[in-house]
Amino acid sequence: MKRRVFIKNTGLGAGGILTAGSIVTIIAACNKNNMMNGGGMNMGGQPVPVTEGSFTRLLPIPNTVSGNATLTAQATTANINGSNISVLGYQANGILGPTIRANSGINTNFNFQNNLSEKSNVHWHGLKISANMDGHPQALVNPGSSFNYQFPINQRAGLCWYHPHPDGATARQAFQGLAGLFIINDAEEAALSLPSGIYEIPLVIQDKRFTSSGITYNPSMGEVMSGYMGETIIVNGEASPYTDVATRYYRLRILNGSNARIYNLALSNNADLIIIGNDGGLLRNPATVKTVLLAPGERLDVLVNFAGLTAGTQVFLESRMFDNGGSAQGKQGFKIMKFKVTQTVSDSFIVPASLSAVNTIPASSSSKTRNFVINAMQMTSGMNMTGIHRINDKTYDKNRIDETVAANATEIWVLDNSQGDEPHPMHLHGVHFQVLERNGGRGQLTASESGWKDTVLVMPRETVKIIIPFSTLTGVFVFHCHNLEHEDDGMMLQYQLT
Ligand code: C2O
Ligand code: CU
Ligand code: CU
Repeated sequence: MKRRVFIKNTGLGAGGILTAGSIVTIIAACNKNNMMNGGGMNMGGQPVPVTEGSFTRLLPIPNTVSGNATLTAQATTANINGSNISVLGYQANGILGPTIRANSGINTNFNFQNNLSEKSNVHWHGLKISANMDGHPQALVNPGSSFNYQFPINQRAGLCWYHPHPDGATARQAFQGLAGLFIINDAEEAALSLPSGIYEIPLVIQDKRFTSSGITYNPSMGEVMSGYMGETIIVNGEASPYTDVATRYYRLRILNGSNARIYNLALSNNADLIIIGNDGGLLRNPATVKTVLLAPGERLDVLVNFAGLTAGTQVFLESRMFDNGGSAQGKQGFKIMKFKVTQTVSDSFIVPASLSAVNTIPASSSSKTRNFVINAMQMTSGMNMTGIHRINDKTYDKNRIDETVAANATEIWVLDNSQGDEPHPMHLHGVHFQVLERNGGRGQLTASESGWKDTVLVMPRETVKIIIPFSTLTGVFVFHCHNLEHEDDGMMLQYQLT
């Protein structure tokens, strides 16, 4: 999608004729006054209702590869909900790429073969690697060509993921299927003896819009506003799946791989969700909650305990309604997948009281505070345009460096959505950060926002302050909203680490 501005069916004046001059005036007014804010309408603010499936198909588990593998982006088919449909994949026959599992400290080597009919690349979301391996929106691989991504893993255990990041086409390529998990293991994590093997279940939650033959991606201008959502929830590439479980602890490694939809995760029997990790790895201590919001790009490491349930019991992972999500999110509760208790076992696992050494970065160690107003121009009825999602009133420009940051600096970045009506999960490449505070909206940090993050949800009316220790990996990185329609619409800037 090009960030050009156009207007359709404006309803401004009976004649309906707009001169170029009046278009410019409207845009200027939008910029200057955040027009119609509060009383205005969010043109995209229509929730897309979820249609629950039957929970009769088995949850697939993506195959696992090491840190030395080939990923071949291609048009292929996937069997979803009983039909063979056209998708994009990083391997043949399926919607997700393999799960990469590698130990911290190794050198990786990924041969990316682009067999798509368009340019693409791979971004390693959550990996702290050099800029030339990071999958910058301009670092593209031509159709029919390949590129070797090589980087050392210099970070603690955690759940990362990978997806395409071509300028202007990220949202479509990801929605049509290109994504995969990247699990990093280390000794600190291993010492905890967390549930593993079949008791550690990766869950990639996505919503898709299906036709009988494929996945449609054709956002209206309104859907550029809200983000593109689908009626079908898939987990690991299957619609409304189920999995059999035993009466014991499980470790769920959850990614919200949706373009725009935010989930408010809970178990249908209201059992505890014991959060042990998030984007950047393990928390210092487990945090027990009943519900947890997960925005696009965010990950969770959660223990759930099925002990005490009788065989035959069904427990659903569901998304509950939530407030503060703007006009298009949180309006509906729905089931995501089913756990079917089929086996009674004894389990001696005890949740460790302490998980990981996480040093708190004091706010006083910051050498600079940068403010970012994240907003969308509010529009009058019938006025349609792109380039509406902005950061500090700018849209992405590959030729412009927006922020210059000194290597090794620690900085506070303020993500200000205080005037906004839409949720923005903000993501930085190249770093992990800690969340310092949230003002307005929910007014506090949540249990899953301690430890290290790379994506933080900034709801309407909220301002979120993060502290970022930058590395010495100099180069140009992007930061952006991980609502991928917003990102492709231009809600992305560049920082250069020098
Ligand atoms: Cu997961 Cu720049 O993105
Ligand atoms: Cu990323
Ligand atoms: Cu956004």
